[in-house]
Amino acid sequence: MKFAPSLLSANFARIAEEISAVVDAGADYLHLDVMDGRFVPNITWGPKIVGDLRPLTKLPFDAHLMVVEPERYAEAFVAAGANIITFHIEATPHAQRLLAHVRDLGVKAGIAIDPQTPVGALVDIVEDCDLILIMSVNPGFGGQSFLERSLAKIREARALVAERNPRCEIEVDGGINARTLPLVAAAGADVAVMGSALFDAVDPGAQLRNLRALLAT
Ligand code: DX5
Ligand code: ZN
Repeated sequence: MKFAPSLLSANFARIAEEISAVVDAGADYLHLDVMDGRFVPNITWGPKIVGDLRPLTKLPFDAHLMVVEPERYAEAFVAAGANIITFHIEATPHAQRLLAHVRDLGVKAGIAIDPQTPVGALVDIVEDCDLILIMSVNPGFGGQSFLERSLAKIREARALVAERNPRCEIEVDGGINARTLPLVAAAGADVAVMGSALFDAVDPGAQLRNLRALLAT
């Protein structure tokens, strides 16, 4: 299992320390939640912040675009240093075209599905994806409760990628904590995004190590 700490719940007044804590504890990706106040009701950051964070670590930047018209922004986030560009299938009428465009930019292409979107929506584009992101909360905010139905969707996604694109990673985002992480892992996820479960802890690095150890038991 890979761990992708979400900086949404980190304290940006001391972001370098927050990043070092999870990098030193063995994080695999840094998950960057981009919100535009339109696709989701919240606003976070744009390419400038991503570029400013880039020198702080060599870890892959996993940019999760929760924006309308994501095709307008992929290039700017790649230029800022993103290594994975994930956008929502609900946010664009031409997902396959954008997946191909993102790959042409030389980075990995991911597609995210909201809780109401069935895994079946991915059948005809899974071969164009490097990553599928199953949202296990409604996007927009950290600290929400895990939607249990997501476990069945992870199992469906695992079967789909096994059949059509075994190299595609399955990432899960929202409400992952010490209780839900083992369930997400058992259902077949490759990457766990975690925000509040890490950054609301007194020591996010120790928390990450504890959660990894939990999976090993
Ligand atoms: C929510 C974001 C998540 C968020 C998860 O829209 O996509 O990445 O940070 O936060 P937690 O882990 O607190 O549910
Ligand atoms: Zn996210």
